[in-house]
Amino acid sequence: MIDIHSHILPGLDDGSPSLEESVEMMRIAARTGTTDIVATPHANLEYSFELELTERKIAELAAAAGPEPRIHRGCDLHLSYDNIQQALARPSRFTIDGGTYLLVEFPDLLIIRTAGDIFDMLLGAGVVPIITHPERNALLQQRLGELEGWVEQGCRVQVTAQSFLGRFGRQAREFAELLVRRGVAHLVASDAHDAEDRPPDLAGAYDYLRRKYGEEVAQRLLVDNPRRVLESRPIEVFEKPSATGKKWYRFW
Ligand SMILES: [Fe+2]
Repeated sequence: MIDIHSHILPGLDDGSPSLEESVEMMRIAARTGTTDIVATPHANLEYSFELELTERKIAELAAAAGPEPRIHRGCDLHLSYDNIQQALARPSRFTIDGGTYLLVEFPDLLIIRTAGDIFDMLLGAGVVPIITHPERNALLQQRLGELEGWVEQGCRVQVTAQSFLGRFGRQAREFAELLVRRGVAHLVASDAHDAEDRPPDLAGAYDYLRRKYGEEVAQRLLVDNPRRVLESRPIEVFEKPSATGKKWYRFW
């Protein structure tokens, strides 16, 4: 499996506090079947993102923990005005491995009315925004239509693995399931912050999705689509008519 969202690097944000913890997280990831993990430190009002420091921490962690899983670089970009300006000016500093895809995080308590315009600008700059864990955002849970609109625009959606297992409550779990059923969940990732409470373990979610929706769905969300992200290849989405007249999506 490939994990495109984690706070595995030590001392950069509210994720791993120490190199020891990060090494333990690496062990958990390797043991539970993750071959590649993207280190995505926060860029938000509390933590600033430094590419060079991130790359140095990746090298240190790889040296301490060994070659598995492979560590890639990314950024968990909070949708603030400054961040967006910076990402537009130099997208490859923030995108995953300097490629096409960028993790974007909505504020908890407000819906940005200009989100569609921001996504247009990013897409126009060759960046595909990946909207992270909308199922954990109480406001986005009420805005499925808007979320689908952003997907139509070209954004893709990442759901947190533990949401399927109830870690973030019943509403997050139900919304995560709804996103899968409607075809607007494209990627599942750990968003790991430590080795205990929020570990980089995708095995439980894979198993859950496989049993509930079949191997193909689990494979797509945790292996195939994340690989497309690493390789900067498109995750295609097709609209599919349904009996209810509501929009449905099918994707590669
Ligand atoms: Fe995150």
